[in-house]
Amino acid sequence: MHITVQKLPKSIDNAAETVAVVVDVLRATSVMATAVQNGAEQIITCLEVDEAWQIAQGMALPPLLCGERHCKPIVGFDLGNSPSEYSPAAVAGRTIVMTTTNGTRALFAARDAKAIYAGAFINLTAVSERVLGERSITIICAGTDGVATDEDFLFAGALIAKIASFEREIMPGGDAMEAIDNWRAFLDEGSTLAHRLARSRGGKNLVDAGYRSDVDFCSVVDAVSAVPTASSRTPMTLRG
Ligand code: MLT
Repeated sequence: MHITVQKLPKSIDNAAETVAVVVDVLRATSVMATAVQNGAEQIITCLEVDEAWQIAQGMALPPLLCGERHCKPIVGFDLGNSPSEYSPAAVAGRTIVMTTTNGTRALFAARDAKAIYAGAFINLTAVSERVLGERSITIICAGTDGVATDEDFLFAGALIAKIASFEREIMPGGDAMEAIDNWRAFLDEGSTLAHRLARSRGGKNLVDAGYRSDVDFCSVVDAVSAVPTASSRTPMTLRG
């Protein structure tokens, strides 16, 4: 199995033969996994706030408008980007229209891939099982505002280590080897994941904005078994 890691979103080489795992641990892909786990019917993602309003206006049943800008809920939207908001009572059976600063952009970069999954620490094992047997995987880290971030890169290393526990032959490409070394160094450090994520670029932004509890939520490995999976590309839509 070839595994490539991109520290930031960009188009994928040999996209049609590659499965993409898109990662925005803090918080977009953690929110998506929580929403799908709690019964959201589908998550339609888009890049701009105006686009989200337009998609919602074209729908017979009003969707939940969700997302963030500068970590904060968007004015007039139903939900922000804290995974704890996406309870079964809030999202079961609902269509979500979501725009976030980095996560929904990273999904867009993966649009030509053979299959697209949203990965985060909270669904780590479920994602690793989903990609088993594939020949080529690209892990696309969302980063924060165009800068690579430790939290997504750490997840990339954790995912490769998890896959390696099932698959004998892993051929690392791109920044995959560095991601594995980074994950091993974290394990040797003996720190908690929540503590490490809180020190990352995305983590610091969230802590400064008053969302430390979201960092803790996103640090619970394997809290859910749902894997948001692209069901349509235009617009990019995910289902469980
Ligand atoms: C993003 O997509 O940029 C993030 O999810 C940011 C956030 O959660 O505040």
